[in-house]
Amino acid sequence: MKVLIVGNGGREHAFAWKCSLSPKVSKVFVAPGNGGTANEKNVENINISSNDIQKLLLFAKKERIDLTIIGPEAPLVGGIVDEFSKAGLSCFGPSAKASQLEGSKSFTKDFLNRHNIPTADYKSFTESKPAIEYIKSKGAPLVVKADGLAAGKGVIVAMNIDDAIHAVLDILEKNDFGDAGSKIVIEDFLEGEEASFIVITDGEKVLPLATSQDHKARDNNDLGPNTGGMGAYSPAPIVTEDMSEKIMNEIILPTLEGLKKDGISYLGFLYAGLMIDNDGNPRILEYNCRFGDPETQPIMMRMESDLVDLILSTMNGSLSSDTVEWSNDVALGVVMAAGGYPLKYESGKKISGLNKIDSENIKVFHAGTTTKNKDIVTNGGRVLCVVGKGKSTQDANIIAYSMVNKIEWQNEYHRDDIGYRAILRERE
Ligand code: AMP
Ligand code: GLY
Repeated sequence: MKVLIVGNGGREHAFAWKCSLSPKVSKVFVAPGNGGTANEKNVENINISSNDIQKLLLFAKKERIDLTIIGPEAPLVGGIVDEFSKAGLSCFGPSAKASQLEGSKSFTKDFLNRHNIPTADYKSFTESKPAIEYIKSKGAPLVVKADGLAAGKGVIVAMNIDDAIHAVLDILEKNDFGDAGSKIVIEDFLEGEEASFIVITDGEKVLPLATSQDHKARDNNDLGPNTGGMGAYSPAPIVTEDMSEKIMNEIILPTLEGLKKDGISYLGFLYAGLMIDNDGNPRILEYNCRFGDPETQPIMMRMESDLVDLILSTMNGSLSSDTVEWSNDVALGVVMAAGGYPLKYESGKKISGLNKIDSENIKVFHAGTTTKNKDIVTNGGRVLCVVGKGKSTQDANIIAYSMVNKIEWQNEYHRDDIGYRAILRERE
């Protein structure tokens, strides 16, 4: 089989690597890929942007690609699966209609409300005046969200009224997020611990994948600005078997029922971003219509079965819990970023130490990298995700950081405490 992975991040490197290990697969293409996928065995980068659906379609037809797997949300929301299906090509991910669960926050909040799925109270606005009145009547803290896709930047957690009002003005009046911000959602601030719950579904059957947690804040102790994710680990001890059952019953299954009632068929990965409060009640913060980044990297390190088999069985209606096996080990990924990320940062820095891997329990997934002459240089905010696998979160943390400490470039930045909550729980 020939497989095409669409995207250029750490998630896509992990997918490409995992697919390349499948005995069914002769060749993996990644569009556009990165410096990591360029050097992976049986993997080739194709210079087509992940948003150029027509060029991707032409390439898939010409190369006779058997299966295309979409990493990021933008092409899904843009209808890549619909276009490939029309052309008779196998493409894994939800349709444009189903991807609205990520593509529009107000669509999702109305959906959750209609189907009684637990989430924070909210209101949507297109004008700043009533939005500001609402903020004043509610009081802080509040969370202001641009309705559409904003590359992970459209959510402002406002701890006081002034910040909330500023966020409203930035989005609705100054058009900070363009069309994605022509509408906003203002919702109550939820306290608790966040967890990612990712499932694979054909719309009828649904299988939860290994649990995981990521660290969204840039700095140690979960402080500093929000990012796409500075590290992640799997499993997430907060998601016990009981909690997993609760999440399935109270959130995932009602979501699939709701989609069916609304006449939307969902096929693909579905990622629920959850806040679990101190009494153990999960509420949904957001849906993503795709796998998480960096959650994919540790989760793929723990997947012992064949990813391609799992996806094919979902597409042909034979998904079952036998299809996927997980290692009992813990995998933990540390994101190495360009100093300054998520704000201004520099690219083009030569990375050294990448080949100092001395254990099968280490894998370095690339995100913002590219090849320049024979070197690998930085080419984005999140540059690498270094994953270690061990018997415990503590073990995996030590193994991952042993490799992080060997890799260098000018102005590199990473957190030192990935997994600290899970490590504390293990000690209890
Ligand atoms: P989202 O893209 O909606 O997941 O929001 C990004 C991040 O903002 C989340 O991972 C949370 O850390 C935070 N966040 C979003 N909504 C809320 C909320 N209602 N209460 C507290 N934090 C939130
Ligand atoms: N790690 C969060 C995300 O993929 O959206």
